[in-house]
Amino acid sequence: MNGKNIILGITGGIAVYKAADLCSKLVSEGFDVRVVMTANALKLISSQIFLTLSKNRVLTDIFDEYQPRPEHVDWAEWADLLVVAPCTANFIGKFASGIADDALTTTALAFRGPVLLAPAMNEHMWASPIVQDNLAKIVDKLGVRTVGPDTGHLACGTSGKGRMAEPADILEAVRKIVSA
Ligand SMILES: Cc1cc2nc3c(=O)[nH]c(=O)nc-3n(C[C@H](O)[C@H](O)[C@H](O)COP(=O)(O)O)c2cc1C
Repeated sequence: MNGKNIILGITGGIAVYKAADLCSKLVSEGFDVRVVMTANALKLISSQIFLTLSKNRVLTDIFDEYQPRPEHVDWAEWADLLVVAPCTANFIGKFASGIADDALTTTALAFRGPVLLAPAMNEHMWASPIVQDNLAKIVDKLGVRTVGPDTGHLACGTSGKGRMAEPADILEAVRKIVSA
């Protein structure tokens, strides 16, 4: 362990397959990683992979009759950094609007530290002025940082700007934030 705690938020983008690699890299680097997944991320990839890689329970639902304190508050206080990768257009929009209707958006809103987003989406979604306005709002108001998206082949079969940054590049962005 390097003494730093990271929440890795995973949303429902096709780049979830890279999130497992990122999780593994963060753990190898010595971070204590806790993963929070949205319901749509769970439709694309199992939480089991992140449970195994992070060696921590994966948070997918904050409504738990056995938890006396809401976990999004506990987890937000525990973390030094929140990384959302892949980060959907939907998450950016919800975060910019203060919507907190699931485990990840609620944790994000309760978190006071640095936030790093790795946006990943279709190039037209990324170019949408609505998405760009939402992003500009959270950059301006919260100091949110971004890494990527990169330009290249997209899962929808086209090519353009929207690919999630490579896990190694996200790790490098994380290193810079925690060492600042
Ligand atoms: C196969 C598949 C791939 C998707 N990939 C993306 C993506 O890369 N980026 C994105 O913003 N939305 C993507 N979506 C749409 C999101 O899943 C959708 O906006 C969803 O509401 C996101 O929910 P979440 O942000 O709570 O995870 C995809 C949907 C499907 C069915």
